[in-house]
Amino acid sequence: MSQQTVNGDAFENLLHEERHFPPTPEFAAAANVHEDVYASAAEDRVAFWAEQARKHLTWSKDFDQTLDWSDAPFAKWFVGGEVNAAYNALDRHVENGLGDRVAIYFEGEPGDTEKITYADLTERVKKAANAFESLGVRKGDRVAVYLPMIPEAVVTMLACARIGAVHSVVFGGFSAEALRSRIDDAEAKLVVTADGTYRRGKPSPLKPAVDDALAAPGHSVEHVVVVRRNGQDVDWTQGRDLHWSELMDAASGEHTAVGHESEHPLYILYTSGTTGKPKGILHTTGGYLTQTAFTHSAVFDLKPETDVYWCTADIGWVTGHSYVAYAPLVNGATQVMYEGTPDSPHQGRWWEIVEKYKVSILYTAPTAIRTMMKWGREIPGKYDLSSIRVLGSVGEPINPEAWMWYREVIGGGKAPIVDTWWQTETGAIMVAPLPGVTSTKPGSAQVPLPGIAVDVVDENGKPVPNGHGGFLVVREPWPSMLRTIWGDPERFKETYWSRFEGMYFAGDGAKKDNDGDIWLLGRVDDVMNVSGHRLSTTEIESALVSHEWVAEAAVVGATDETTGQAVVAFVILRSEVEIPEGEDPSAVLRTHVGKEIGPIAKPKHILVVPELPKTRSGKIMRRLLKDVAEGRDPGDATTLADPAVMQQIAADLRK
Ligand code: WTA
Repeated sequence: MSQQTVNGDAFENLLHEERHFPPTPEFAAAANVHEDVYASAAEDRVAFWAEQARKHLTWSKDFDQTLDWSDAPFAKWFVGGEVNAAYNALDRHVENGLGDRVAIYFEGEPGDTEKITYADLTERVKKAANAFESLGVRKGDRVAVYLPMIPEAVVTMLACARIGAVHSVVFGGFSAEALRSRIDDAEAKLVVTADGTYRRGKPSPLKPAVDDALAAPGHSVEHVVVVRRNGQDVDWTQGRDLHWSELMDAASGEHTAVGHESEHPLYILYTSGTTGKPKGILHTTGGYLTQTAFTHSAVFDLKPETDVYWCTADIGWVTGHSYVAYAPLVNGATQVMYEGTPDSPHQGRWWEIVEKYKVSILYTAPTAIRTMMKWGREIPGKYDLSSIRVLGSVGEPINPEAWMWYREVIGGGKAPIVDTWWQTETGAIMVAPLPGVTSTKPGSAQVPLPGIAVDVVDENGKPVPNGHGGFLVVREPWPSMLRTIWGDPERFKETYWSRFEGMYFAGDGAKKDNDGDIWLLGRVDDVMNVSGHRLSTTEIESALVSHEWVAEAAVVGATDETTGQAVVAFVILRSEVEIPEGEDPSAVLRTHVGKEIGPIAKPKHILVVPELPKTRSGKIMRRLLKDVAEGRDPGDATTLADPAVMQQIAADLRK
């Protein structure tokens, strides 16, 4: 393995974890799935998924072939079947007499709230579907979504799915540049945005970034629909821009959902890869809905009649797609949606929300848990969290200390924790305990889900024995797998299917402990994980060198107590540039990265260095920079073309 073995060593002692937390007999007895689910899936994996597809979804037309893998790695699931995602998430619940059940408790950051029933949400989605159709959006057209965490985000996604348009949600924290490149790549016809949102009590704009993104000609966008959220003044392009509320008021509330082919594209979601350009991950309908719905029911033990579920992820990431917009609604759940930050207006906001809505299933990221730990247990201690019965974790490895804190302080020492490993590409959870079956272990995601063939293999693709580490792979196709990279099937094959013959390569390092449980050890490629968000080193390096002052840049992800990893950049300035008096190059370059990619990509530290450590063949030795960034003595530097470089960097750093 590459640099990540450094990480792996830190985990060595954890692999002898002795603490186990078996489910209570009551929880196990009432659980949605039991031990036998593994055996029945193992007996016939494909038949198992066919059963889940028919159990969790209502098909407009039944499928006649469960899996077509003849053109591997291009999969087709539930061939011949037709299904409508919005019908499954909405109409069918209303038809089943559940129209009055709350679908979404919306909590705005300033404290405004909305209670949206399944009947309300269905009507809103029907209107939006009619409105988008009236703007010429047809089946297969792409719609870019640049919205905050407000109900209109879910309405937009489901309205697109209803009419067969393909949504491409762009996280609101991405810049105008990033938005434009995603609009161009997908050739989006429509953009749905808002004037803005609220962040820590202040209005925060979104529409200006859309205006900037569309300022240069040559784009595919015909209309921009604007939700009024924070009431700020925005520029208006006559003919192109339309008010959400006016469109919805004019739209009919009648709309019939027709089934789309199982493999009809549902959405594109861009994610960072090892090379500069973000990849448009394509998900399709039937398989995606099947696996997200099954996992949401099995892994969180969802009881739709009584549970209140809350996933804190933003709609701009895959977790917000699978476990906010789709699975909970397909499963008829009641969920909380919160617009803002955890510390606005005070650090107890999340726990106040849990108490207020009696949240029983909470799904969040380790970085949030570590932040709350830092704030202190007295804060959650002030609220009644006794409604909580299942806790989920996603996005990065959860360290055992955070895991124990989560269990004790938030889960009252009794709620099972499900640490869920998956990716934008996998579409749904792949490795996780089942809360009524598995004896959980702090820090480990543990077991592949039923019907999922995850393994850890060595350099040569051979499974590693227990107690050893290697690379995480998936041996068999799974229903919610990505189908391709939008517009680039070659890159799809190359990125995921070329490292190991016949297996999907996830890009993560992992180990099997002595019980055979899986521990995730972080990325083995140039992808960083900052607060559970994927960032590419090369993408940030390209952003840095696009600034006229910069000659060369190297970026590493350094271990960070709160965010998991932090971006640290080393840059060489061009010798000919004169930095104006009073300007701090690090500050200027941080702002520049924020503009090119988005605030989340801004390096925590930028160090201006005279040279970068390179091998004799000219390759930058990121491992050494990582050592320095993490405060270690850079080890063996003898392979460097100029071994003195590292001493100089370390000396500069001490200054
Ligand atoms: C990491 C987020 C350890 C991993 C759903 C993966 C995890 C990347 C876990 C995908 C976990 C996600 N334990 N690491 N439970 N969950 N990861 O595409 O490195 O934003 O490859 O999807 O996050 O990030 P993505």
